[in-house]
Amino acid sequence: MPRIIKKEVSLTQYEADELDEVTQNLIETAKQSALRAYAPYSNFQVGAALLLDNGKIISGNNQENACYPAGLCAERVAFFSAKSQFPDCQILKVAIVAKPASQEQFKMATPCGSCRQVMSEYENNQEQHIKIYLPATDGSVYESDSVDNFLPFKFSNKDLNS
Ligand code: THU
Repeated sequence: MPRIIKKEVSLTQYEADELDEVTQNLIETAKQSALRAYAPYSNFQVGAALLLDNGKIISGNNQENACYPAGLCAERVAFFSAKSQFPDCQILKVAIVAKPASQEQFKMATPCGSCRQVMSEYENNQEQHIKIYLPATDGSVYESDSVDNFLPFKFSNKDLNS
């Protein structure tokens, strides 16, 4: 008999003022970073800001290229930047925001598949889960308590070693 294997994922929705000051500041840093994105081809600006366990905040934004696949998403720019500067750091939180250049408002964007894989790599190799914050257009903020919510049935180094 075939069996169904289920994995439950969940997000928590907060009002912005229910978040602590550090997290609100992280979201603001991600927004400021999005405004500095180099996105002349998609005109879709994305910003990511990470909080590290050493208290530092590292941000990144999408960097595009005339040779389209050579560009990189905001999340990976931020994660690679953090881990290249602080290889032993633990990443506690990441805030991600997006903004079409033609619009005033920021909007919610969930990370692409490649960025989920990269975030998952670092989460697997540290002691704590990485919390993800996604501000929505209505002012609320979605929180995920782990990258796993965005990458169930993930591929990891466990697959390589078994
Ligand atoms: N982008 C990101 O920066 N992060 C994502 O998770 C999704 C997409 C960027 C890549 C490209 O520069 C633009 O958004 C349009 O896809």
